[in-house]
Amino acid sequence: MPAERLEFPAGFLWGAATSAHQVEGGNTCNDWWRFEQIPGVIRGGRGSGDACRHLERFDADFALAQADGHNAHRLSLEWSRLEPARGRFDPGAVAHYHEVLASLRRRGLTPIVTLHHFTNPLWVADAGGWEARSTVDAFESFVGFCAREYGHEVDWWCTVNEPEVFAFRGWSEGLWPPAVRDNSRALQVLAHQLEAHGRAYRVLHSEDRIDADGDGLAARVGFAKHRVQLEPLRQWHPLDQMQAFFENRVFNEAVEQATVTGTVELSIPGARSVLRELPELKGALDWYGLNYYTRWMVRSLQPVPHVVRPGALLNDLGWEVWPTGLQRAILAAGRLGRPVLVTENGVADATDRLRPRAIVEFAEAMHAAIADGANVLGYLHWSLLDNFEWNDGYHGRFGLYGVDFDDPERPRTRRRSAEVFARIARANAITDEARAAVGE
Ligand code: FCB
Repeated sequence: MPAERLEFPAGFLWGAATSAHQVEGGNTCNDWWRFEQIPGVIRGGRGSGDACRHLERFDADFALAQADGHNAHRLSLEWSRLEPARGRFDPGAVAHYHEVLASLRRRGLTPIVTLHHFTNPLWVADAGGWEARSTVDAFESFVGFCAREYGHEVDWWCTVNEPEVFAFRGWSEGLWPPAVRDNSRALQVLAHQLEAHGRAYRVLHSEDRIDADGDGLAARVGFAKHRVQLEPLRQWHPLDQMQAFFENRVFNEAVEQATVTGTVELSIPGARSVLRELPELKGALDWYGLNYYTRWMVRSLQPVPHVVRPGALLNDLGWEVWPTGLQRAILAAGRLGRPVLVTENGVADATDRLRPRAIVEFAEAMHAAIADGANVLGYLHWSLLDNFEWNDGYHGRFGLYGVDFDDPERPRTRRRSAEVFARIARANAITDEARAAVGE
């Protein structure tokens, strides 16, 4: 019996997501590049290097997305390329991103442009990075520049990517630059990123007055939130429950709510709390960018507080593949009263054994959330290409297309996942044809 055809709303955005440092190659002027040179910090010892050479190959890469029926693409502008020294913009880099945006538009891919995706110009990092309030000012002027320069080509702006991941990885866990381990400083950074989002929201609305796609809106501004699902490992255990509740509060709820209420209220036991009213942050969200990957089970009083659910299906990085979590994350995000755009979701799976099925199941979960009343604008799969996965180097392979990192001239390898995704995107529906491609 044929399964049900599950339709998505008209105009739904389907595409892939990337970030500059992970795909471009040669981003030598940012703090990640410098960090990658420290022995032992990147799994396998290989830094971003030439990455996917997307800097040169972007047009051919976008041709793959176009041929697969994508109608949108999320990318980031590399701040360190555009503004290698404070206030000095590099004309070559500025022209490069015009070419990138023109290529996307020519190919019918709506650009969704992220302005901060983890990396910082060295001059920003060396002037105190995101612990310094001056970085919020510097980012605001960078955003103003981008709005004026690219506003006629871009309507969809994503201010900051995963401010909570950025702050905790770099300043609490010490795994990312600047490798600090201090929760009080992490909360400062998070607050500054939220403030930067609020200011960027205002600047983008005031400086980008040109409607690039003719839908009557010149700027639609959101941010991307990593909404990990957190659950007590032992459902019955009051301490596990409490810890999951408080982690969810600071990591998920406090961050997303701040973008609507304007109140930044962050606390972690043993750390200096932050309480700030930021008028520029109040109502500063046109859409909620949701990055969803997995759930973590929380256990109290243990040196490693997060574990995977026993028996769970795991991807190559040991993260549970749990599609129902996407439905839950969308519904939770939707409670803020803004439309949700899935800005990232995917599976690290070098051999493509899990991803084809997961793509269908993630789409079903998204469809279920819509049936439950969520307003979902689109879905951007992480990622188009295998790429540089931060600390995991080239070990987390998330691409619809495989990349040969040893032979930069080689064409990308099309995975079955790309076909499954293409069938869904072209039909704007989950069809029997798409389901059949899972097993082909
Ligand atoms: C997200 C990041 C993205 C990528 C995926 C796997 O947290 O935003 O850059 O690394 O995880």
